[in-house]
This record gives sequence, C-alpha cells and structure tokens, in this order.
Amino acid sequence: MIDPDYENFCRLVRDRSGLVLTPAKAYLVNSRLEPVARGLGLAGVPQLLAQLRAGAASSTIDRCVDAMATHESSFFRDAAPFEQLAKTVLPPLIEARQHTKLLRVWCAACSSGQEPYSVAMVLQEMGPRFSGWRLEITATDMSESILRKARAGIYSDFEVRRGLSPERLSRWFTRKGEAWEVSSTLRAMIQFRPHNLLAGSKGLGVFDVIFCRNVLIYFDVDRKRQVLGELARALAPDGNLFLGSAETVLGVTSDFEGAPGSRGLYRLPRLVAAAKSA
Ligand SMILES: C[S@@+](CC[C@H](N)C(=O)[O-])C[C@H]1O[C@@H](n2cnc3c(N)ncnc32)[C@H](O)[C@@H]1O
Repeated sequence: MIDPDYENFCRLVRDRSGLVLTPAKAYLVNSRLEPVARGLGLAGVPQLLAQLRAGAASSTIDRCVDAMATHESSFFRDAAPFEQLAKTVLPPLIEARQHTKLLRVWCAACSSGQEPYSVAMVLQEMGPRFSGWRLEITATDMSESILRKARAGIYSDFEVRRGLSPERLSRWFTRKGEAWEVSSTLRAMIQFRPHNLLAGSKGLGVFDVIFCRNVLIYFDVDRKRQVLGELARALAPDGNLFLGSAETVLGVTSDFEGAPGSRGLYRLPRLVAAAKSA
C-alpha cells in the first residue's frame, strides 16, 4: 500500500509544478527532501511529509517542490538547436522583422541560465545583421533559487567546459577567482523572472522564438498539452518552438507541427498561423 503522506506529496508536486513522481521515485524524494527536513529541524522525511499533509506554510511547500526539480543544464546543450537557431530560424525572422527591428526570445524553464546565455551568444555572433535591433531574451523558471544563480552569471570551471569552445569562453567570460563570470553585454540582453509554466503566459507578451527544453519530459500528457497550448498562444504566427531532444508534440497536441528536416523544432500549423496573423 502506498503511504498516504507520500501520495499526498506526489499530488502536491504535480499540481504545483507539473512534475510527476511515481512510487518508483520514492528514493529520489527521500534523498532530495532529507536536507529540507533537517533545515526545518524535523527528525526526517516522514515527519516532513506528514507536516505537508497536515497543512504546511506555503514557503515550506515551495522549498519541497523546488527540491524535486532537476536543474541539469549546460551551455549549447545538444548543439543542434543553437545551430538551427543561427542558420534556419534567424535569417527569415531578420527579413520579416525589418520594419520593427525587434526580436523576442523566451527561454521557459531556463534553470541556471546556460540556455539563455547561449542564445545571447548566438544573437551577438550574428554581428552587423542585428545592428540597430532591440534583442530581448526573457528567461523564466519556477525556482527562485536557481534564478539567483542564473542572474549571478557565475559558473565553475566544470560548467564552462561543458559546451563552450575556448574562443567563446575567452570572448564572453572573465575569470573571477576560481570561477568565470558572464560578460555584461550578454547579461544586459536577458531579463530573468520567476514564472510557473502551469500559470499560463499572460503578461509575457509575444515571442518570435521559444525554447522550452527538457522540462515537459517530467510532465504527464495533460499538463504537456496545457503548456504547449500556452506556448502556442505566446508564439508569433511565424515563430519557432524548440523542445528538448527527448520531447515531442506527437500524440500530445495538434497546436504545433514539426519543422521539416529539423528535429526538435516546431511551428504553428499553417491555418492557425494564418488565422493569428489576420
Ligand atoms: C532540466 S532543467 C532544463 C533547463 C534548460 N531548459 C535546459 O534544457 O538545459 C528543468 C527546469 O525546469 C524547471 N521547472 C520545472 N517545472 C516547472 C514549471 N512548472 N514551471 C517553470 N519551470 C519549471 C525546473 O526548476 C528546472 O530548472
């Protein structure tokens, strides 16, 4: 029989964040909640789970939900999406946005910031093609603690060696003691803000490109569909959505179609895009 306190916690996490915890993840719950329980002065995880079921403070619930999120990220993760961004996605957008010279990118579930900083490098490296443009990157995550790291823009040797070429490292980072600090040019392009994907996209505006990578993989199909519907609403008619390499819209939603020949890249179906532009 599944422990009712554990069952309650799984429901709490799913309702608050979309993350699905199965009974098989009990070991993960234990190891991730142990430090939270200790920090709260409790004897252990069972006492914390019981407290959550009895009705804990909202800040305690947030800490526990945050503890269950995986924040794994790296610069230029999987490489291909960033090449597609530079070669396939941006050239037609540069043509299409000549009148406004405004490009808006959303990194939804940006974790510790490597993804939005990689996007910022790609945009900067397009050089004069963006001369006179306003380039805005909105980077969001539900976790305040991981956003603090992202905003700080300070990475260890290990983190910068994962995905950054020596050229990019020397161009966009400076040594700060044992660590590396992102340049102020990249930092100025990004607005980091807390946002829960389950809360919709109102107030964020319309985006030309959305990265929502390696987060939907943790959601059940209903919540994937819900979030993809919101992303479709937030995307410009000729906009582009990047999902993670293990994620797809197939069997989940008809709000997006795969871009031919580009794995992981999705667009609005033609009729939907036409109706949006009308
Ligand atoms: C594995 S990281 C992905 C980071 C980055 N997108 C990448 O691909 O490298 C997943 C992130 O999703 C965030 N997350 C999980 N559920 C979320 C939700 N409902 N709303 C916003 N962010 C969420 C977590 O806090 C975590 O930082």
